[in-house]
Amino acid sequence: MRAAVLRNSGDRRLDVVDNLETVDPEPTEVVVQIMATGVCHSDLSILNGTFDHPVPAVLGHEGSGVVVEVGAAVDRVKVGDHVIVAWASPCGWCVNCTARKTPQLCNTMYRDGGMRPRFRLDGVPVHGMNGVGSFSNFTTVRQDSAIVIDDDIPFEVASLVGCGVTTGVGAAINSAKVAPGSSVVVFGCGGVGISAIQGARIAGASTIVAVDLFERKRELALQFGATAACAPEDLDALKAELTGDGFDYAIEVIGLAKTMRAAWDAVHRGGTACVVGAGSPDDHFELSALEIFFNEKTLVGSYYGSSDVRSDFHRLLRLWRAGQLDLEGMISRRSGIDDINEAFDAMVGGEVIRTVISF
Ligand SMILES: NC(=O)c1ccc[n+]([C@@H]2O[C@H](COP(=O)([O-])OP(=O)(O)OC[C@H]3O[C@@H](n4cnc5c(N)ncnc54)[C@H](O)[C@@H]3O)[C@@H](O)[C@H]2O)c1
Ligand SMILES: [Zn+2]
Ligand SMILES: [Zn+2]
Repeated sequence: MRAAVLRNSGDRRLDVVDNLETVDPEPTEVVVQIMATGVCHSDLSILNGTFDHPVPAVLGHEGSGVVVEVGAAVDRVKVGDHVIVAWASPCGWCVNCTARKTPQLCNTMYRDGGMRPRFRLDGVPVHGMNGVGSFSNFTTVRQDSAIVIDDDIPFEVASLVGCGVTTGVGAAINSAKVAPGSSVVVFGCGGVGISAIQGARIAGASTIVAVDLFERKRELALQFGATAACAPEDLDALKAELTGDGFDYAIEVIGLAKTMRAAWDAVHRGGTACVVGAGSPDDHFELSALEIFFNEKTLVGSYYGSSDVRSDFHRLLRLWRAGQLDLEGMISRRSGIDDINEAFDAMVGGEVIRTVISF
């Protein structure tokens, strides 16, 4: 089968191959035929070495498709089911899934083989990104990672829910807990940032400022619910004009220490800065020993939108059905995995919000 493979971390391009094989499913695993996959910046960050992942690997973690085979002990998913593949799936029983009520932080899949290589290429084991690997016709995942959805939902729409939309909307609603009538600034207007803007709108924020380097991205942000937009260097003036002393919430959706610090600075005393962006372990920002207590701000990290994929995927699809969450408008279509490297270029060049590749 056809797939896009990362041979070595730091490579410039993915290698499109025709002869990848999937591994057979374990008793609690299922094989999914991927029908659509979004291209997320986290794929690019593994490709360019911003953060580590075992190689060789099939990248892609924002996929939807159809279950074509199930292991002997699978009891929650059946052949023919349409699914969104979750890149972090809750086991339902560990301390994170129960007492702590943070199923997005369930570590079970990292311990019980959920990260084992999903593929083989020329006899060599090949990993799937975060146990998924959706830049491929088929993949094998835990049944916990295959979230069954209604058959009438277009695969392209469903794929976005697999990462960017759940992450961005969830960051606003679940992690930052944006309140009605509040002011929000979102740094970065890619697929995840536009989702955070939509999340802030759904949560009832009255002021939503979008910050991006590209004017085209800022214009698009206004169509998804931003009430104003600016370049990074113009934010201080706009902040003073719109809020006086600062925003109630800032959501960083880029992955750079300097914009994380800018998010912290953008909120008023007592405000909340939420970091979604995934950056390098070598990129740091500083907080002084005075400002932390004095300003009483909250700094909150956001992993997979602090979501429970078992319920939040459905909640987001209900918002989409109700016309409150625009998913089609975010999509730039490409057919076929051959376009994968061009999709990365379009993302970096500020041309698209989200590329979705159909198979
Ligand atoms: N926390 C999570 O669970 C999670 C999940 C998915 C993605 N992410 C991360 O979220 C981030 C965004 O992902 P995406 O797919 O939306 O990326 P993207 O590349 O589509 O969007 C990033 C946007 O930021 C803008 N930008 C870059 N540098 C900027 C700067 N200095 N100032 C202002 N704007 C700038 C770009 O023009 C672009 O529009 C990435 O770091 C990704 O790895 C995190
Ligand atoms: Zn992602
Ligand atoms: Zn768990």
